[in-house]
Amino acid sequence: MSVTEQTRPTAAQPHHVQMLIDGAWVDAASGETLMVENPGRRTSIATIPRGAKADVDRAVIAAQKAFTAWSKIPPRQRGRLLLRIAEAMESRIEELARIIAEETGNALRTQARPEATLTADIFRYFGGLAGELKGETIPLGENVLSYTRREPLGVVGAIIPWNAPVLLGALKIAPALCAGNTIVLKAAEDAPLGVLFMAKICQEFLPPGVINVLTGTGEECGGPLAQNPAIMKLSFTGSTEVGKIIMRAAADRIVPVSLELGGKSPSIVYPDANEDWVVDGVISGMRFTRQSQSCTAGSRLFLHQDIFDRFLEKLSTKVQALKMGDPLDEASDIGAIINEKQFRKVCGYVDEGLHRKDARLVFGGLPPKEGPLSQGYFAIPTVFADTSNDWRLAREEIFGPVLVAIPWKNEEDAIRMANDSHYGLAAYVWTHEIGSALRTAHAIESGWVQVNQGLGQQPGHSYGGYKQSGIGREFSLEGMLDSFTQRKNVTVNLNVPRLG
Ligand code: NAI
Ligand code: MG
Repeated sequence: MSVTEQTRPTAAQPHHVQMLIDGAWVDAASGETLMVENPGRRTSIATIPRGAKADVDRAVIAAQKAFTAWSKIPPRQRGRLLLRIAEAMESRIEELARIIAEETGNALRTQARPEATLTADIFRYFGGLAGELKGETIPLGENVLSYTRREPLGVVGAIIPWNAPVLLGALKIAPALCAGNTIVLKAAEDAPLGVLFMAKICQEFLPPGVINVLTGTGEECGGPLAQNPAIMKLSFTGSTEVGKIIMRAAADRIVPVSLELGGKSPSIVYPDANEDWVVDGVISGMRFTRQSQSCTAGSRLFLHQDIFDRFLEKLSTKVQALKMGDPLDEASDIGAIINEKQFRKVCGYVDEGLHRKDARLVFGGLPPKEGPLSQGYFAIPTVFADTSNDWRLAREEIFGPVLVAIPWKNEEDAIRMANDSHYGLAAYVWTHEIGSALRTAHAIESGWVQVNQGLGQQPGHSYGGYKQSGIGREFSLEGMLDSFTQRKNVTVNLNVPRLG
């Protein structure tokens, strides 16, 4: 693992960034603040409002007030505003990318810039879909006109995590607004700055109250948002544990809920696929260049036993050639883990692997205690080879660069092990044999299976989880219609006697 130059942090004072309620930039009612850290340098970069129930209540009232007019705007007119937001965002991608890299620790070149670019594209994609909020007519006979309307739900309460904060925020904001809802979104306390920057661009084009973005902790700000009686839809991305809390809050009031939760995704490599491009694909699917802080990380590598050692050798060479270092350095491929808590959690898993007798460390290990990397939360890409699919490292979402490689002999065994998980978000299958590839793709219990590639989500593809990885779909037209509209049926009797 090579290390890129760690440029010394500038001694700039952390700046203060406010949150957005009803078109105005405001502090928390309590006046309290939280600190945002650059995890690559462990320096404070900004303070943000520590939002709580009083702020949630204000934001929800503003969103409720804005809903009446916003929902009545013809959809394509709303879409046009989203297209203008996309254009404005495209002109500021570089600024946005640097903010993301600084607050998340995600490397600028490999992650933050692509995230900023895709975010603008998400607004463009949904802006163009506004005309598709169509209903149906139902053929009940000549004397009946029965049709459906796709109506917005009202105020959407959205809560997002820190791992791809701006993209995940846009995936709530753009479809919710396009469909005629208004929104109150709570950013993650670790990565609110990019989301607030995006909100600033959105607010230039939107009436006050249509978009409200709050900052604060999960319990103090996310909790009251999930429980607010005027919220008509909850949309959450984050851990499965908090997803359950959100779903319980939704159950109390019978509001629809969408959940994008965790994953422990399998990557199955067939014996004919011991090739360089597959190794590259497995690395990309494992999201090593995002410190594997991704819900779609292919973190369980099922390698056919005939290629097991040779494949791991190639993987080892390629991963160790990646440069880890300052997220803002263009040369860095890999950045830092989001915060100390996550860093310690990842190190805990690595430590457990190192102590387990029947697991073999292929490469990696615990982070250095000295040198440039010790200045930030840098976790070293680590691979354990193991024969078992049933220890903690092979079952739990680590959300860090720790990959477990497990050998297999028969296709059925590979599929059985792949499906032996309470998660079901993504999966990767690698082989030249189209029959094996598709048989396996169909047998895997995951919402998204990629064959011979390890790419990220694209606008238009319905993305979401099976099992405890979630409910509902995002990224697509169907996702917008299912998650952010409700169908109303209107049935008209055409057989009314004529007047007079
Ligand atoms: P988290 O699920 O606690 O946080 C996600 C969002 O939920 C944040 O905005 C947070 O403030 C909010 N939140 C937390 N508790 C809440 C509550 N009681 N009520 C309402 N909102 C609440 O995730 P965290 O703690 O940052 O990471 C822990 C683990 O979660 C990670 O190690 C990873 O395994 C998983 N995770 C998965 C993600 C995914 O995209 N699948 C994203 C982030 C974390
Ligand atoms: Mg948490």
